Amino acid sequence: MTRLAVGDDLLSPDALSDPYTYFGQLRELDPVHWNELHRSWIVTRYEDVMAGYKDGRLSSDRVVPHFEARLSAPEREEMEPVLRTLSRWMVFNDPPEHGRLRAITRDAFSPRTVEAMRPRVKAVVEDLLGGLEGKATADFVADFAFPLPAIVIAELLGVPPGDRELFKSWSTDLKALVFGALDDGQRHQRARQAIDALSAYFADLVAHYRRRPGDNLISSFLVPEAGRPPVDAGELIPMLILLLFAGHETTTNLLANGLLALLRNPDQLDRLRQEPSAMTSAVEELLRFDGPAKLSVRWVASDLEMRGTRIAKGDRLLLVNASANRDPRRFADPDRLDLGRTDNAHLAFGYGRHYCLGASLARLEASLAFSTITERLPRIQLQADRELRWQPTILGRELEQLPIRLS
Ligand code: HEM
Repeated sequence: MTRLAVGDDLLSPDALSDPYTYFGQLRELDPVHWNELHRSWIVTRYEDVMAGYKDGRLSSDRVVPHFEARLSAPEREEMEPVLRTLSRWMVFNDPPEHGRLRAITRDAFSPRTVEAMRPRVKAVVEDLLGGLEGKATADFVADFAFPLPAIVIAELLGVPPGDRELFKSWSTDLKALVFGALDDGQRHQRARQAIDALSAYFADLVAHYRRRPGDNLISSFLVPEAGRPPVDAGELIPMLILLLFAGHETTTNLLANGLLALLRNPDQLDRLRQEPSAMTSAVEELLRFDGPAKLSVRWVASDLEMRGTRIAKGDRLLLVNASANRDPRRFADPDRLDLGRTDNAHLAFGYGRHYCLGASLARLEASLAFSTITERLPRIQLQADRELRWQPTILGRELEQLPIRLS
């Protein structure tokens, strides 16, 4: 067993504020590491993370095994609605079920459909930044990075954007379970309440759009469409919950982590101001450098070997995107933010069949946000006097607040 200079606790304050040091040590010293505290294999080299995403023996169908391993029979009964919902999410399914669920949503998030949303996303960006102008200070997370993706995904689905504080609190409760806030002893109960509330909320919206269809995704799922698998009644509401949840949680963090990286690297921010055409590569670099999804979880469906280490069926394995994206074997000078980086096949959106469905939408929101910020907020700075705090989850890389100074 290799001795490491930092502990195995992925939720320690040091690991939360800087996960790269721990993962970087593993990558060099013990690239397929058994973390006893979290009872998981941690895979950190780019080549191995990529191989993991392609390996059919690593299953995404991990909700049932998790519940069976961790909960007593009465607890499982209590959590049945959560189990029923999550086990219908495409992200927790393997083929062939995964392909059918994903095909239902594919057109709605295709690059072409997303491009057509550009004017509306731009208008929301302008509107939110307008609200910041004239202020001396702000919390970039609460005032911009949360509302932008929340409004966009809500409008796309047909959810009233004004309800966003409501669905934010449900999402936060659900996230405690889905993203692994392991220190929170209440996370199962919170997830149960959130699923009940979200299911009732969407049942009302579905009933509403059945009577009065609108120009939105909920309405479109209610009528059969040529070339698209029909949506089963039992999977419609879980699907809507997934899209609402996935559609804003992570993009918020791309915006906040991205702005933080720019403000800590003023030469790169200046470069973006002078060279707006670098925006496409800049967004990719911000995703690589400090992306919102530190890792993806897999369940080992049959025994396998990785770098000579035997991994048993039933184990949990973490594919660490955050470490693969900083692997010097794959990226030159990986700890440097270089907005002009061209060879940048990062894994921030995962890889393979579960590659992020919303990647085009997240990219559009980020590029419009950062281009408008560089144009309209010339004096933006970090409030250096405030310490930054990160949410205590295994999966997410999420700032609680990002205090900024505007004048
Ligand atoms: C910067 C923002 C985002 C990041 C970093 C991100 C990251 C990821 C990652 C790493 C995965 C793969 C999970 C796995 O392999 O287990 C994933 C899947 C997924 N993402 Fe995103 N995501 C983002 C934004 C979005 C948005 C805007 C949506 C919109 C609905 C979305 C919807 C999904 C869905 C539905 C899946 C599951 C796909 C499948 O299982 O086939 N994501 N995302």
